[in-house]
Order: sequence, then C-alpha cells, then structure tokens
Amino acid sequence: MQHSLSPDKIEYFKDFRGTLGVLDFDVLPFIPKRIYWITNSPENTTRGAHAHKLLNQVFLVLSGSVTIDIFKGSEKQSFNLIAEGPILMLEPGYWRDIKLLTPDSLLLVLCDREYEENDYIRDWEDYLEWYSANEP
Ligand code: TYD
Repeated sequence: MQHSLSPDKIEYFKDFRGTLGVLDFDVLPFIPKRIYWITNSPENTTRGAHAHKLLNQVFLVLSGSVTIDIFKGSEKQSFNLIAEGPILMLEPGYWRDIKLLTPDSLLLVLCDREYEENDYIRDWEDYLEWYSANEP
C-alpha cells in the first residue's frame, strides 16, 4: 500500500511573518468537491471508525499531531501526520481509526464527493463482510 504524498508537492513560503503553505489541486488524484476539518478535540480523541464505499479523501494536518490507522480488510498501516509532513491519500474501501493526539490538532480532509451517509460503513463486522465481497 502506498498512500502518503511527499511534502515536496506542497510549497511553503516562510518568512518573519510566518509560513504560507500551498497545495495545488493538480497534484491530487481528484479535484475536491467538499472540504471538512476537525478542531477542538481533547488530547487523544478517537474519531473515524468507519470505511467508505466510494469516497476518495486526502488528509492533511495543519497543526498538532494526528495518527491515522488504516485497514484494508485486517491488514493495518499507521501514519502519523504533522504540519508540513506528508499528507495521506485514501481510496475507498479502507477502514480508518483517527486519533487526534494534541488539543491543537487541525485535521483538514478533502473529498471527491458530497456527504452521503449511505456511503459509510460504520460497523467493523459489516466492513469485513463488505471487504471480502468487494476486495479487488
Ligand atoms: P462523522 O462522520 O461521525 O465524523 P468522523 O468520522 O470524522 O469522526 O461525522 C460527524 C457528524 O458530522 C455526523 O453527524 C455527520 C456530520 N457530517 C456532515 O453532515 N457532513 C460532512 O461532510 C461530514 C464529514 C460529517
């Protein structure tokens, strides 16, 4: 599995006024249709715990520290995302557990589809069943 996108695809312009980061959508596998973000999570908050059947996403941490465990079936891979580090591209079909480690964590998520609750699989056993029926 190869998901992380090298930070050299993102440009940072730094000077005494701070850091300006630029992500050109052309480096992504899709042009986002929806963006959402998560802030104000207490230390070590766990979120996610679902998979998507169709949705492609890109996860980008702008501050703090976030761990994302992804599962393809029962095969697990862990990513720690921090500001100015690699970003994570996630195709449909992966279960994800997200842990916002620090209270200043800002997790930005880019999506190629609108919000559709019926695209979610929120139960682990349902996910394993769906995965074994839909595994490429
Ligand atoms: P949820 O999917 O539980 O968040 P996460 O898995 O990232 O922890 O979403 C939390 C709530 O926000 C839930 O009521 C659905 C709603 N929501 C929307 O209405 N639109 C969206 O684009 C997203 C991502 C969530």
